[in-house]
Amino acid sequence: MTASIEDPNFYNDLDLSFAKAWDLIEPGVNKRASPAHTPVVGTIGGDGAPQLRIMVLREADRVKRRLRFHTDVRSTKIHEIASNGKTSVLMYDAAEKLQLRLWGEARVHDDTTDVDKAWSSSTTFARRCYMAEQPPASPSQEPTSGLPSWIEGCQPEEMQLMDARANFAVLWFEISSIEWLYLANKGHRRARWDWYDGTQSWLGRWLIP
Ligand SMILES: Cc1cc2nc3c(=O)[nH]c(=O)nc-3n(C[C@H](O)[C@H](O)[C@H](O)COP(=O)(O)O)c2cc1C
Repeated sequence: MTASIEDPNFYNDLDLSFAKAWDLIEPGVNKRASPAHTPVVGTIGGDGAPQLRIMVLREADRVKRRLRFHTDVRSTKIHEIASNGKTSVLMYDAAEKLQLRLWGEARVHDDTTDVDKAWSSSTTFARRCYMAEQPPASPSQEPTSGLPSWIEGCQPEEMQLMDARANFAVLWFEISSIEWLYLANKGHRRARWDWYDGTQSWLGRWLIP
């Protein structure tokens, strides 16, 4: 419980640890070098096995406690989420010695206007992967990007991307629990916050690391 002058201010402070967790997540949206830019997103496969993959963080909203991701509507993860939305997100900031584990529910956003906005805010190069003719994970007889050959190595024009819009999905991940692990020589710190709908608030507690 004792803190020294070298300890970060959040070391023995639950509220500051919670704020620090979000301070670590939020820069992931715009800072490519931030570890929170490419977290691991875990869903539950059709066979019950955990399925993990890296995804780019597109938006983080501390007040609405949610994260936004983009993906192909035909991808396996979309089918997994449709049958079980339980999702987990993992990130580790080695410089800060902080691991965050987030749990919650993912859902495909169905407001066309919002999805259109997200679509047009992505670069044409990023949107090119949605031009793949076959769904992601389709077997192929040969090595392939899945893109039409005429667009390989080229940056598409807006017009050429029009059909690909139908393959684009926005995923929202609503967070219901956050777990924190701070590594320190002196002694690690572990904490967890759970969201309570009744009180519309987070309840935090320390855990044994
Ligand atoms: C650095 C990096 C960033 C990625 N970003 C995304 C992303 O934002 N959205 C996405 O659907 N897949 C992204 N992927 C690919 C996924 O990790 C995964 O291979 C793909 O989405 C297929 O996953 P699924 O079969 O579970 O649906 C990224 C991969 C890497 C290595």
